Amino acid sequence: MSVKKIIVLFSGNGTNLENIIKKLDKKNIDGTIFQISGAICNNKNAKGINICKKYNIPLTILEHQNYKNREDYDKELVKIINSYNPNLTVLAGFMRILTPVFTNNIKAINIHPSLLPLFKGVFAIKESFQSDMKVGGVTVHFVNNELDGGKIILQECFQKEENETLESFAQKIHLLEHKLLIQAIIKILNHPIKNSDTAPDFV
Ligand code: GRF
Repeated sequence: MSVKKIIVLFSGNGTNLENIIKKLDKKNIDGTIFQISGAICNNKNAKGINICKKYNIPLTILEHQNYKNREDYDKELVKIINSYNPNLTVLAGFMRILTPVFTNNIKAINIHPSLLPLFKGVFAIKESFQSDMKVGGVTVHFVNNELDGGKIILQECFQKEENETLESFAQKIHLLEHKLLIQAIIKILNHPIKNSDTAPDFV
């Protein structure tokens, strides 16, 4: 029986975080016990902080104000993550641009609310809703030096309805995110795949 430790990074509501805790924490899936060892948040006002309290997940709030540049912030972030010795770090709505200090040292995946490589960045939901595309979608990918640019792990789409509103579209995205992120974590930790986008140590 192996135990796989996960660290979750978030900035906002934390619905993906809560879903990960509910579906995976202390669960035995195909002989692997999943453990959410800790969470890190860069925003002291994030709603998701209460979720950590509710489920007793150790939380670190790491605000960028005290760091003179992104590299220094990422150095501290890497130090905290490594102190847990996790098998995987999951970016679940972590709204920060990461430097190579992070991406070269941490095996991480990210959930993005569009069909990458389309609609990178923070306005993905609105941009894909307003586009001519007949589908919307969600992507889980490895984190590398390029924003929303790492190797794709899982991707799924849904039909955009005639009467779709931005709200209904966003709701479909979030539901799909919850499903896909869990599938991706299980896929990576139960059936490791080679990540050619990150350092060889991560294989
Ligand atoms: C998700 O839509 C994710 O794709 C984006 O930020 C949102 C986080 O939602 N990067 P939540 O905090 O998990 O509710």
